[in-house]
Amino acid sequence: MKILVTGGTGYIGSHTVVELQNRGYDVIIVDDLSNSSIEVLDNIAKITGKKLLFEQFDLTDQDKTKGFFRKYNDIKGVIHFAAFKAVGESVNFPLKYYRNNLLSLINILQGMGDNAIPNIVFSSSCTVYGQPAVLPVREDAPVQKAWSPYGATKQISEDIINDTSRSAGIKGILLRYFNPIGAHESAIIGELPIGEPNCLMPYITQTAIGKRPFLRVWGNDYNTPDGTAIRDYLHVTDLAKAHVIAVERMLNETMKQNVEVFNLGTGNGFSVMQVIESFERSTGVKLNYQIMDRRPGDIEQVWADTAFANKELGWKTEKSLDEMTASAWKWEKELAKKRK
Ligand code: UD1
Repeated sequence: MKILVTGGTGYIGSHTVVELQNRGYDVIIVDDLSNSSIEVLDNIAKITGKKLLFEQFDLTDQDKTKGFFRKYNDIKGVIHFAAFKAVGESVNFPLKYYRNNLLSLINILQGMGDNAIPNIVFSSSCTVYGQPAVLPVREDAPVQKAWSPYGATKQISEDIINDTSRSAGIKGILLRYFNPIGAHESAIIGELPIGEPNCLMPYITQTAIGKRPFLRVWGNDYNTPDGTAIRDYLHVTDLAKAHVIAVERMLNETMKQNVEVFNLGTGNGFSVMQVIESFERSTGVKLNYQIMDRRPGDIEQVWADTAFANKELGWKTEKSLDEMTASAWKWEKELAKKRK
């Protein structure tokens, strides 16, 4: 059973490929390596001991994408990760984001329609909710006007899949991720930020290892118990497993609607200070940090209502925050060994 994973050498993609192979699926990765490394392929093989197919090209190239789907028309399902994801960059280069994130999806859906490949799992984000009025946030909460072009591409992509499902017989599962962190337990794959990280977890581990002088905590005057912003952090392996379940739901034809939406989080919110405390507790390493002003565009607090995903997918996260921060640290130390 062949599954296409776009962006399969990326952070969430690579962890999902491992889980797919562990469940016996044949995987074909398409990635242009614009934000990832070819070595990830060997690292995946080290973990699973299995072979996969790899094609390197840019999915915004219509002819290449067409040719690809013609060649591999035995694909049974697509998991589409390949996208740009830096919120701040998207504000400065909106067209880069709209072009990349939307054209690739359009080309993929066209290729799927032309070759009778009906199933797509799409990487969406809790960013579509903005600052929700009600917490925890449920899937039927209103989608709010996106603050960044990155967020807009996620919303528009969801609309494109909804519209296409009506006209082209495509089924979609839209997975709205909260904040994935951590790395594979083997510490052979993990997050590989290029340049200075934007996200909290890699910033913490890079500070602890000495690559950055201190973590900047963006604001401690939020209306939260300790004043720092709250997110729903989940382990990337738990997240990866949800993708396998979503694919199987499509293949087994147990979907209840042509397009389904699931929140993927733990259901628990943790503040930036709580993540720092967890890191220090789980690793025994003290972290340098300084409180700064709020980061523009950040929301105050969000965490998931996971009841629908728990019930319908039979999926629940397993890893605790301490396991997440410990695994991120193990990975950062592995990276440091490789640098030496
Ligand atoms: C953001 C996006 C999300 C996107 C993700 C991917 C929004 C609302 N969210 O998540 O959709 O998928 O990026 O890149 O657009 N923090 C610090 N210091 C740091 C870094 C972060 O204090 O150096 C804080 C932030 O202020 C925030 C929390 O840590 O409160 C998490 O930040 P981050 O990891 O960047 O994720 P989001 O902003 O939640």
